Parts: sequence; C-alpha cells; structure tokens
Amino acid sequence: KKLLSVSLLGLAIAASAAQAQEDQIRIGVDVPYEPMEYRTPDGELTGFDIDLGNALCERIGVECEWVVQGWDGIIPGLMARKYDAIMSSMTINDDRREQVLFSDPYITPPSAWFAPEGTDIDATNEESLAGMTIGVQRGTLQDNYVTDMYGDVADINRYSTADDMVLDMESERLDILFLDYPVGKSTLLDSEEGDYVVVGEMLTEPKEYFGDGFGIAFRQRDEALAEQFNEALAEVQEDGTYDEIYNRYFGG
Ligand code: ARG
Repeated sequence: KKLLSVSLLGLAIAASAAQAQEDQIRIGVDVPYEPMEYRTPDGELTGFDIDLGNALCERIGVECEWVVQGWDGIIPGLMARKYDAIMSSMTINDDRREQVLFSDPYITPPSAWFAPEGTDIDATNEESLAGMTIGVQRGTLQDNYVTDMYGDVADINRYSTADDMVLDMESERLDILFLDYPVGKSTLLDSEEGDYVVVGEMLTEPKEYFGDGFGIAFRQRDEALAEQFNEALAEVQEDGTYDEIYNRYFGG
C-alpha cells in the first residue's frame, strides 16, 4: 500500500512538472542592456527583447517567465536548466553554435565604438588605440574582438555589466568603449550625462566575431522548442506586431 501511494505521489509530481513546462517558458536575460532589456524605475523588466519575447510566448500559447542572470553565467545557466532559453541580445556565431541551438536572427545591429566628444581617437586602428583604455562587457563578442585585435597595444577594462562600463565612461575612466550600437546609442548618445560620439566604422564583419544577428538560444536538443519560436517569429513579423515593438524602441 505504501509503495503504491509513493508512486502515485511521484506521478502527481511528474504531471505537475509537465504542466508547468507547458504553460511557461523560462527565459534567461542579463540586465540592464538598454534598450534591449532593462528595468523601469519601478523595477519591471522592459525592452525590445522583453516585449518581443512576450509576444512570441503569447503566440506559442505560453507565458514567458524571465530569469535574470549575469552575462558570465548565461550559457551555463541554460545548460543547468535554470531556464529553457536565452533572449539577451546574444549574437549568433560559430563559437556559440557549438554550445547552443539558435533561433533565426530577430534583429541584426552592428557593433560600434563610443567616445567622449572631442576625443583624440580619430580612427580605430592599432596606432590610434595604442595606450588607450578600452571598455567592453566581459565575455561578449566585443570583448573577444578587442582582446584579439588590440590586446597588445591597449588597456582593456572588462565589466560584468554594461551599465558599470557606462558609469566608468561618464567618470572619465575610459577613453573609448565598444558595444552593440543600440545600447551605446541609448546609454551614451541619447543620455544627458555628457556628449558622446561614434568613432570609426560600425562593424558587422568579420562574421567569425560579429556573427549573424541576435538569436534566441536553446539547448541543442530542444529543436522542437526552437522551431516553435521560429514560427512565432515569422508570424509576428508578418502581422505587424514586430514592427510595432521595433518602433516602440527604435522609431524616431
Ligand atoms: N551581442 C553581444 C554578444 O552577444 C553582447 C550581448 C550582451 N547582452 C546583454 N544582455 N548584456 O556577445
């Protein structure tokens, strides 16, 4: 008799776990990364990824449960099943494809260099960056690129969050920083804290670093889940939902 009730309990637990999985998808995200993912003054998550992710979940018929996770641990957190997807401005590239399965790209912004107006740095090459202090978010493709290209000539300051990096720029501890263009635009170009400019070219190449746009990442085996997201993405692109969200964050 006891054995029976124990196994029934097991069944009930298994059933409720399956239930939770059906109604909810947990998505890992590193904030703040304005305007992609950040918090409103009253602490609510918002941003392009959040709104788009919620629209995709709605389409699939589930609820997105956002799980905040530092960038450093964002892929390990997926592997450890802390959440089932990552939607965090993560660029699709070959290195990461070895670890995770990506959705189709949902936006494809360049990377850009940002410096205070009146900077001496007039181009981004070894000569003009020599001896400069460059800021990047640790573990991003921007970190990889700057480390490989300028690691020998410049000082690189690596930050665990993008806003710590922006604060150091505002307090003049950095000469220049390198990050996804929309984030530098929102946190530096559009900010009241000082006057900043884009220096040199915006980069989308080489692909080895700059990849193929931002994608939602899944565990390799979760092909069916990735497929659901791809279908939902195509639908919201078709019916105007995507454009509406895009204009909310990037429209004029
Ligand atoms: N797009 C860059 C990369 O994939 C940086 C993304 C950082 N995202 C974030 N939410 N902090 O490496």
